[in-house]
Amino acid sequence: MSLLEIKNVVKRFGDYTAVNNVSLNVEAGEFFTLLGPSGCGKTTLLRMLAGFEQPDEGQILLDGQDMSRVPPEKRPVHTVFQSYALFPHMSVRDNVAFPLKMAGWDKARIESQVDELLEDVRLTAFGNRFPHELSGGQRQRVAIARALVDRPRLLLLDEPLSALDAKLREDMQIELINLQKEVGITFVYVTHDQGEALALSHRIAVMSHGQVEQLDIPEKIYGFPKNRFVADFIGQCNVLEGTVKSIDGQVMTVDLKGCGDVRCQTTPAAKVGQSGWLALRPEKVRIDKTVVASGEEAHFKGRVHDCLYLGDVTIYMVEVAEGVLVETMLPNNIPGVAKFFDDNDEVEVAWRFDAGSFLTE
Ligand SMILES: Nc1ncnc2c1ncn2[C@@H]1O[C@H](COP(=O)(O)OP(=O)(O)OP(=O)(O)O)[C@@H](O)[C@H]1O
Ligand SMILES: [Mg+2]
Repeated sequence: MSLLEIKNVVKRFGDYTAVNNVSLNVEAGEFFTLLGPSGCGKTTLLRMLAGFEQPDEGQILLDGQDMSRVPPEKRPVHTVFQSYALFPHMSVRDNVAFPLKMAGWDKARIESQVDELLEDVRLTAFGNRFPHELSGGQRQRVAIARALVDRPRLLLLDEPLSALDAKLREDMQIELINLQKEVGITFVYVTHDQGEALALSHRIAVMSHGQVEQLDIPEKIYGFPKNRFVADFIGQCNVLEGTVKSIDGQVMTVDLKGCGDVRCQTTPAAKVGQSGWLALRPEKVRIDKTVVASGEEAHFKGRVHDCLYLGDVTIYMVEVAEGVLVETMLPNNIPGVAKFFDDNDEVEVAWRFDAGSFLTE
């Protein structure tokens, strides 16, 4: 049995459907992420898990128990929000101890439990400080410690790092991964940041317009997006129009618009004559002055249309046919070299038949 079962859950606000028939399971000990653009229904789904909203249809089960009649404070679930919501007049220790005091724990037990949690979030030395004496990242760690202090079954986190700057966010991501491993509590994490989702999660549900578009492990979500929405939303992706010409077992031939035939992996949904898109990540495309392609690769001559220097890598947009641009990238792995090619350079590109996937929707 899964720890959390969400079955056909629907939530409407007036005639607007914010969550549209979502079903998914979260396993005990999992770091599970809901990822999607603003307004796709992530927070609404999380609020139903916490009990702040009731589904109009469907069921939410925790440990096999139907939650519909269980009020928020009776659920073994806590939520961490973007705004830390700490008590400003209480010290770090008192903030973390608060849920235990409310639950009537005796003093000695509270003290040892708070010590343990402060150690987990590496704030042992900060127990007597007040929230205004902490950085944003430290405040968020206090909020997380407070949410974990009575060992909930489920911790919900709604964009907890989005108020932090990029560097601190990366540090906190690593801390969250370690903390979750250490405490072993199941996390349901909400973010609209695809990099964060890929870095943190055991599994990701990609949402759009209240529905789950794809649910899988990060490397499948990134490497084999199921449709154009997921391909576009997760990282950079070439989406090249084409028509299926023939299917031969695991390999099919696609007539790419303007470019001609390329071979790619067979998609179960594809039929001969069907049009669709080849989704191809930039880093899967080889680019060089000349490329010796193997029999397993598609190969094109082209011209650099634009370059974009990003520091660690440079992006090269290569025009392989009139109006058809293929995005490629190279790491800047030679000291002092910002780019290997310039606008209008003649180059060649190649990619393996299994480098991308053919999308029919
Ligand atoms: N109480 C409410 N009354 C009416 N509409 C609501 C209510 N709460 C949410 N909505 C609408 O439901 C949709 C989903 O909102 P939700 O807050 O779940 O999105 P989200 O995915 O969390 O977005 P964000 O990334 O911006 O936080 C939005 O269009 C929102 O305007
Ligand atoms: Mg939200």
